[in-house]
Amino acid sequence: MKKGFDPKNMATKDLHQLIIGSVAPRPIAFVSTFDENGNLNLAPYSFFNAFSSNPPILVFSSNRRVTNNTTKDTLHNILTTKKAVINAVSYDIVRQMSLSSVEFDPGVSEFEKVGLTPQPSHVIDVPGVKESPVNMECVVKDIIALGEHGGAGHLIICEVVYISIDENKFTDGKLDPYKLDLMARMGRNYYVRANGDAIMEIHQSVTDKPIGFDGLPDDIVKSNILTGNEIAAMACLLQFPDAEEKQKVLQTHFNGIKPAKELLHQKAAVLIREKKVEEALALLMA
Ligand SMILES: Cc1cc2nc3c(=O)[nH]c(=O)nc-3n(C[C@H](O)[C@H](O)[C@H](O)COP(=O)(O)O)c2cc1C
Repeated sequence: MKKGFDPKNMATKDLHQLIIGSVAPRPIAFVSTFDENGNLNLAPYSFFNAFSSNPPILVFSSNRRVTNNTTKDTLHNILTTKKAVINAVSYDIVRQMSLSSVEFDPGVSEFEKVGLTPQPSHVIDVPGVKESPVNMECVVKDIIALGEHGGAGHLIICEVVYISIDENKFTDGKLDPYKLDLMARMGRNYYVRANGDAIMEIHQSVTDKPIGFDGLPDDIVKSNILTGNEIAAMACLLQFPDAEEKQKVLQTHFNGIKPAKELLHQKAAVLIREKKVEEALALLMA
């Protein structure tokens, strides 16, 4: 059973919690801007993502406060200057990022309040955050207001004009997610750290045509023992095992005698966890 919710019949603050809890984890744009008097501002925005690589476009949303329908300093600054640096948030600076979300008075520099260092940019005059592993200098192309009431967002559409990345975050010339150690926002006060077991690699060719769920025998797809992920691992294979392979794995694991279905599926699940997916399918089809 699923619990249903009608956005039109809910308090905005409750709807907000459902949305941020469900659309998660979200990357965090740590946005630095200048106001018209040259005061530096820094604030986190997790209604944020990348939407295009050519041109390189990032979008984040600055929302009207639900409590009093006021708008935020980052939006005011961007309306004037049309420039921002979007800094990535790594584990090392996550508490400083969180502290910067306090509603300090306009003109107060969050850089000073949270102990982060402004770092001169290359193309725009707004500084980035030195301690952040990635700084993306942006020119704001458009701002789209999504409503007039508390909770309404303003989409801030940014074109990236320069990217600076800590050289220590690369392995063999490629950005290394383990070294980046990025943080993401979830619902309520929860965050997730993209490191260790939280990172999972899935190799998936988009051009090779795999067997698919509909190509697998029914008793595999309807297994009470194998999980959806385990069945998917086999559905990703490009070809079925041949008779020789089937006989060989049956011999290896069960002395050539096919056991009861439950035992067979349990063994296949173990093989899949050991990354022996071809072997698992051969055993199930033996
Ligand atoms: C991790 C995190 C993510 C946030 N994401 C958003 C967001 O996407 N949109 C928003 O309007 N406020 C968001 N906030 C709240 C703002 O950071 C907060 O209102 C801040 O005071 C705004 O600062 P400013 O007035 O200097 O722009 C977020 C806060 C945190 C801690």
